[in-house]
Amino acid sequence: MIVVVTGSTGLLGPYICEAIAGRHRVEAISRHGPHRCDLTDPAATRRTLHDIGASAIVHAAALTDVDQCERDPNGADRSNRLVVANVVAALAENVRCIYISTDQVYPDRAGPHLEGGEAPVNAYGRSKLAGEAEALKHPDTLVLRTNLFGPSRSVHRRSLSDFVVDGLRGGKPITLFRDSLFSPLHMATLASLIAELLETEARGVFNLGCREGTSKAEFGLAVARHLGLSISSARVGTSESIPGRAPRPHDLRMENGRAEALLGRALPTLEEEIRKL
Ligand SMILES: NC(=O)c1ccc[n+]([C@@H]2O[C@H](COP(=O)([O-])OP(=O)(O)OC[C@H]3O[C@@H](n4cnc5c(N)ncnc54)[C@H](OP(=O)(O)O)[C@@H]3O)[C@@H](O)[C@H]2O)c1
Repeated sequence: MIVVVTGSTGLLGPYICEAIAGRHRVEAISRHGPHRCDLTDPAATRRTLHDIGASAIVHAAALTDVDQCERDPNGADRSNRLVVANVVAALAENVRCIYISTDQVYPDRAGPHLEGGEAPVNAYGRSKLAGEAEALKHPDTLVLRTNLFGPSRSVHRRSLSDFVVDGLRGGKPITLFRDSLFSPLHMATLASLIAELLETEARGVFNLGCREGTSKAEFGLAVARHLGLSISSARVGTSESIPGRAPRPHDLRMENGRAEALLGRALPTLEEEIRKL
């Protein structure tokens, strides 16, 4: 297959390209290349996808800065909904489509959340949910809601684990939130699951996270333990202590039973994922 990966210059994109490259020809799109295309432009999107002749697409491009989305909801809508509409409009019906979504579509209620319980509390979550709806207009779309960590391979971006590791190594003061819960996967695991699911006929919406999520504080401390880092510069606090942030749900742990049934096996625990760092 010729598989297009959008968002190839971001955090997750390079991992997806690597996981798929062993099995298929990968053609990567972002505004900075290798295939340069601003996906907010419908004509350029159509031309680029037509020239590549894609048989499948993994759409990971997005505006992922939650606070920027809140400041500029129209920009969030353009990047996270309109772009998906442009991509879908340019795809033939037989092109397999995977849309990478987020746990931020869920409400500020106790998790773990099930597919069907969406109620985003910020502009980012609303725009990604609207993007899902656009993606699902294509007949062969799989939507994967996720969260992630792992070493960034992008010069522009740092992941949560990079923030923790760099902060602790450099002795910089960092605050680890005890009131923010999630169930992320290491990007290498996530990318290999995406490559696997690309070759199935699964359609619809699936949560895809680790088993037994935890707080970002516990996550940071577990990363430090695993890598033997001093936690002397870290303090455990609450997300409310950072003023001016966009609202975020406190508990974004996901129930992954649907994905586990689809894959025919259990997803890894967070401890197993942290050991991959
Ligand atoms: N990071 C997380 O913690 C997280 C958590 C849950 C879900 N997700 C989802 O996972 C996916 C990947 O996230 P990420 O963190 O890897 O993203 P990221 O690091 O912010 O990178 C975003 C990518 O999208 C591309 N892009 C943005 N607007 C574009 C446009 N108009 N035209 C073409 N390309 C465009 C950027 O490329 P250029 O700037 O080079 O054009 C970049 O490659 C997203 O769908 C996100 O919603 C991320």
